[in-house]
Amino acid sequence: MLSAEEKAELDRELQQYPARQSACIDAMKIVQRHRRWLSDEALRDIGEYLGMSVADLDGVATFYNLLFRKPVGRHVVMICDSVTCWIMGYEKLRDTLMNRLGVSLGETTSDDRFTVLPIVCLGNCDKAPTLMVDRDTYGNVSPETVEEILARYK
Ligand code: FES
Repeated sequence: MLSAEEKAELDRELQQYPARQSACIDAMKIVQRHRRWLSDEALRDIGEYLGMSVADLDGVATFYNLLFRKPVGRHVVMICDSVTCWIMGYEKLRDTLMNRLGVSLGETTSDDRFTVLPIVCLGNCDKAPTLMVDRDTYGNVSPETVEEILARYK
């Protein structure tokens, strides 16, 4: 069942939509913010509230990079691996990040602090290489500045 807080936030969003199902992406974002990731149980809770099946919600969720269907750490680092970032130093940045955190892409650090995921163009190509931590975008990231960025997230 959705929590009272989740319902209150979702009810506010629902006012903008003609049909409850239209709010499914917002609903998943809200629930993910509260629960970190979207388990089958979370989709069931959302589905009951919006009148949708888990399969329908799963189909939408898997289409969006920013909706997580597997457990993630407290913070998610998404590193852009599209062409401009690739040319501007993606590989060096990725390797620095992986070495620093002791994980491979797609993995979560043992202290549950960070999950690192690849992502397609974040629309910040003029400041490549780019990465995003949670909802914050960082451009012109170098192996030297990545440490300073990570330090902001506990
Ligand atoms: S290619 Fe990385 S932000 Fe566009």
